[in-house]
Amino acid sequence: MTNTTALLASAPLGPLTLPNRLVMAPLTRNRAEADGTPTPLMATYYAQRASAGLIVAEAATPNAVGQTYPNITAVHSARHVAGWRQVTDAVREAGGRMFLQLQHGGRVGHPATSGLTPVAPSPVPLPETIFTPGGHRPAVVPREMTAEDIRTTVADFARAARNALDAGFEGVEVHSANGHLLHQFLAANTNRRTDGYGGPDAGRIRFTAEVTEAVAAEIGAERVGLRISPGNTVNGIAEGGTEEIYTALVDRLGGLGLAYLHQVFADPDDPVFQKIRAGWPGVLIANPVLGEQPTTDTVRRASERLLAAGADLIALGRPFLANPDLVTRLRLGAPLNPVRDRYLMYVGGATGYTDYPALGQETAQPSSSSNVALDGPRVA
Ligand SMILES: Cc1cc2nc3c(=O)[nH]c(=O)nc-3n(C[C@H](O)[C@H](O)[C@H](O)COP(=O)(O)O)c2cc1C
Repeated sequence: MTNTTALLASAPLGPLTLPNRLVMAPLTRNRAEADGTPTPLMATYYAQRASAGLIVAEAATPNAVGQTYPNITAVHSARHVAGWRQVTDAVREAGGRMFLQLQHGGRVGHPATSGLTPVAPSPVPLPETIFTPGGHRPAVVPREMTAEDIRTTVADFARAARNALDAGFEGVEVHSANGHLLHQFLAANTNRRTDGYGGPDAGRIRFTAEVTEAVAAEIGAERVGLRISPGNTVNGIAEGGTEEIYTALVDRLGGLGLAYLHQVFADPDDPVFQKIRAGWPGVLIANPVLGEQPTTDTVRRASERLLAAGADLIALGRPFLANPDLVTRLRLGAPLNPVRDRYLMYVGGATGYTDYPALGQETAQPSSSSNVALDGPRVA
């Protein structure tokens, strides 16, 4: 049994005071309309989880070509902003606060989904199939971004951040993790450029840095977070020199006054985590390494270890997915709901989405059995 006092203590974050140190990690759930507009069902889902210290809402696309999968959210039109507004209103009314994650998929995209040829640092295709409205298809070779593409994409991120604030978010999280466009610039195997955006560390971090700086200039650095996943090989990434690239990134952005840096799969015993903690002067959100079926005890232990190692806030994905009242459960030491069928994560509808019960409502839980052999997108 561990002590949750630190985890449940309030904490400052940019202009906010969070009531606890638990952050709901961004979770793509593919419940938006086909054009990326959030739905009333999404407002219900997020409002159920409003007791999180902070919700980082799922990846939203800043422009049309950045779309990864069907029915993911977007934030580049007035319709998207209006759709998100119902979500942020519902969460605020329930006592919560939200950032929105901005994600450009880069080579993780397909013309069958977006209608456009994906763009990337270099014409290196995803080495696996990709989920589209017509099922899994072979990846296409992305078009290498020109200097003009880079400029317009940076501007699209800044505009998307402004849209997010107009939609009622408190800030945004720039997604430079998990093999998406910004991570593709950081990694040696996906960035073969010979201009100032490739080559040595200073070149490969430049796009992430310029996007983050442009977003900070647009809405204020104290409303901007940055997500990274050092060493993560998801979506065919091989960074080559993980420690060096993130040290360079932290050095370049550490003085900007960002709201936070957010590390995926943070392990307190990992020298890269320790180096990032030592080098980052601001708030560090750590997303621990948990199994497929986290329990109250594994979540508490992993969280407390990371706080002891210097993390300021703890981000949790699947525990929040399956437990709308996760904060209460951790406080009481109550058991967690099991995470149900993986395919339910990425399909439309309320099943496996808004029907995870709060404590005392267990009888409302429908059957978790499913034989549908549909594999959605991978963990984004
Ligand atoms: C269904 C699902 C969707 C995800 N979507 C996103 C996403 O949109 N953006 C992102 O940065 N990470 C995404 N992730 C990764 C999570 O934020 C988190 O880093 C990962 O699940 C590990 O944390 P956990 O063990 O607490 O779930 C997703 C993970 C899952 C399971």
